[in-house]
Amino acid sequence: MTKLSCASYLLLLLLIVFPGFRALGFGVAVSSAASVVINGFLSPITNNGSIPAIFLPVLVANIQKGIHGSDTGAYDTEGRFDSEMFEEIFQKHAHTNPNALTSDELNEMLKANQQPNDFQGRVASRSEWEALFSLAKDDNGLLQKDILRSFYDGSLFYKLEGKRKSLK
Ligand SMILES: *[C@@H]1O[C@H](CO)[C@@H](O)[C@H](O)[C@H]1NC(C)=O
Repeated sequence: MTKLSCASYLLLLLLIVFPGFRALGFGVAVSSAASVVINGFLSPITNNGSIPAIFLPVLVANIQKGIHGSDTGAYDTEGRFDSEMFEEIFQKHAHTNPNALTSDELNEMLKANQQPNDFQGRVASRSEWEALFSLAKDDNGLLQKDILRSFYDGSLFYKLEGKRKSLK
């Protein structure tokens, strides 16, 4: 890599994904690793050559191509929210409270969704869900259904950032 391309590479990661993680309260090490891994995986899959690959751009319009296996199906293969599959998460795994998941129930769900010979999908699902659970659980250690819905519609992370700001 030349000096210039190396700088542009860092620019995208530092300007968008990295500060996003920091805003949610993740430390410098986790945010750096997460931004490199996420863009490293999603960029080659979602970018169709419209932006130079060196920037590691993730084209959100093509994000459905980044869906991995061992998932919940709450986003269908076209990337649309599937409310029946979303409801199924709670119908199948929310045993203690009808509208919330405990950490054990999340674990049960991850195991139930595991597809055979899908190491990459399993690791991705587990890391994503565990990060989400740690961010979004309430004071009783429960992931509430309405909070999870706001994750799927995209509003959750802005709310979490706002909450962190107001606590400071
Ligand atoms: C790449 O994908 C984007 C988003 O779907 C689309 O708007 C654009 O036209 C595509 N470009 C090429 C070169 O296929």
